[in-house]
Amino acid sequence: MARHLITSALPYINGIKHLGNLIGSQLPSDVYARYLRARGHEVLLICATDEHGTPAELAAAKAGQPVDEFCTAMWQTQKDIADGFRLSFDHFGRSSSERNHALTQHFAGKLADAGLIEEVMEKQVYSNADGRYLPDRYIEGTCPNCGYDKARGDQCENCTKQLDPVDLIEPRSAISGSTDLEVRETKHLYLRQSKMRAQLSDWIDAQSDWPILTTSIARKWLNDGDGLQDRGITRDLDWGVPVKRGADDWPGMDGKVFYVWFDAPIEYIAATAEWADATGQDDTAWQRWWREDMGADDVHYTQFMAKDNIPFHTLSFPVTLMGSNEPWKLVNYIKGFNWLNYEGGKFSTSQGRGIFMNEALEILPSDYWRWWLVSNAPEGDDANFTWEGFQGGVNKDLADVLGNFVSRVTKFCRSKFGEVVPQGGAYGPAEEAVVAEITKRLETYQAHMDAIELRKATAELRAIWVAGNEYLQAAEPWAVFKTDPERSAAIVRFALNLIALYGVLARPFVPDASDTILTAMNAGEAKWPEDVAEALHSLPAGHAFTVPDVLFAKISDEDREALAARFAGK
Ligand code: MF3
Ligand code: ZN
Repeated sequence: MARHLITSALPYINGIKHLGNLIGSQLPSDVYARYLRARGHEVLLICATDEHGTPAELAAAKAGQPVDEFCTAMWQTQKDIADGFRLSFDHFGRSSSERNHALTQHFAGKLADAGLIEEVMEKQVYSNADGRYLPDRYIEGTCPNCGYDKARGDQCENCTKQLDPVDLIEPRSAISGSTDLEVRETKHLYLRQSKMRAQLSDWIDAQSDWPILTTSIARKWLNDGDGLQDRGITRDLDWGVPVKRGADDWPGMDGKVFYVWFDAPIEYIAATAEWADATGQDDTAWQRWWREDMGADDVHYTQFMAKDNIPFHTLSFPVTLMGSNEPWKLVNYIKGFNWLNYEGGKFSTSQGRGIFMNEALEILPSDYWRWWLVSNAPEGDDANFTWEGFQGGVNKDLADVLGNFVSRVTKFCRSKFGEVVPQGGAYGPAEEAVVAEITKRLETYQAHMDAIELRKATAELRAIWVAGNEYLQAAEPWAVFKTDPERSAAIVRFALNLIALYGVLARPFVPDASDTILTAMNAGEAKWPEDVAEALHSLPAGHAFTVPDVLFAKISDEDREALAARFAGK
């Protein structure tokens, strides 16, 4: 028994996420958490919405809502969808929470005490008409490079040239259109990450078991990139965590907030505190997951994220934690994902290309998506969603292999022996061979899950299902029944026990189907098998069950074509 803290990268609040986002962090974190819980470990799975920053303000403005109301509503939407996908978060928090305000300010204070924060005077554009400083992307004007008249202060969309707001010809506020702008000097805080280079480098070197995707990105930024340049951690926005030094005001920083990438990862900790609050526990309940001096030295901490998040989690967030000089828990393992493409192109939130989480649940139950996404997860390389591939995966793995096995066995039993596990006969060499095969495959399946090699784990699980089908095909209980009903009963009894075993083993990936199977088999709190032979005796002769409804419906060619057309692009 170990204690596992698991976090999923926090989905940004600006809108509903697509399936590429889902497989990039939230879904795999849930699969891993479910597996570890099934193995008897103590698990805490944490996620939250990432709510601050300019994109949140822009999305709220677009929706015509005040930003706090927008975030509250979108948090609820994202939470409902996460529930719909059966993501078993112990807590789904919000980075705008009181807890995160206090913790973010706490870390800033500690970093300042450690000499890791520098105050820098910067020139920035102020809009008199709007009464506020304008972030680069809130300034529009004519591109000096191509003459496009709606170029943004950070980049020209037309010619893609990176810009500085001062480069723009006839700059104006994107909020009000006002040209009454002036450049003012204003103070900002910089995190002196560069002072931590040696400590970070040692820490990364010590992570011998990290996947190559993670370490290569971390080392690249650490060594040859600008990744460890000192970094501004404050912004002139209204929406965010107000800049304070611990509980104290920070002179000269009135009206400023911390940069979203500074407060977002701190929300992993804050969300754990929110969880303690929500479950009526005191501070020691969350501190034992996060503070080495409060018991967290026993915790194994795993983070899930898409690869673009790796630099922030291998460099910036560790700087925050280590630089505080307090005994915070550092991550033990980072599982990074490549991209999932949609029909050969990119999923695009702005262009509405691909399938969004809410749409997916309207089309088919979550298990169908969970299975396809995890069995095709972009682990080694980018992966590609196609409707044909999806149809094939669902129809073959779920309907033909798992669903069909359950249905054939339970229906045959009902017709010949009734809805009880039949009596008579003993397991023989055929059953022993299956036990031996599944025992071996189960070890491999577990090894892949322990290593968070999810695609490989699904392949092994599928092979375990196939073993049952092949056994049934060879043992032919329907033919044997005519001459030797006792032997037929033994085969059916064994096969019914296989169904219950499959219900347990499939739970991390297809939890609803797993529940349906275990309820139908009346299997109670079926435990993870420590011994396959023993597990295949767990439903004794005389044990009542019911035939479950069809577990997985096949996707027809017609349905597939209609869906492909509907999602071709908007
Ligand atoms: N919201 C970010 C993204 O979508 C991820 C933030 S992860 C956190 O890329 F740890 F910083 F919160
Ligand atoms: Zn241009």
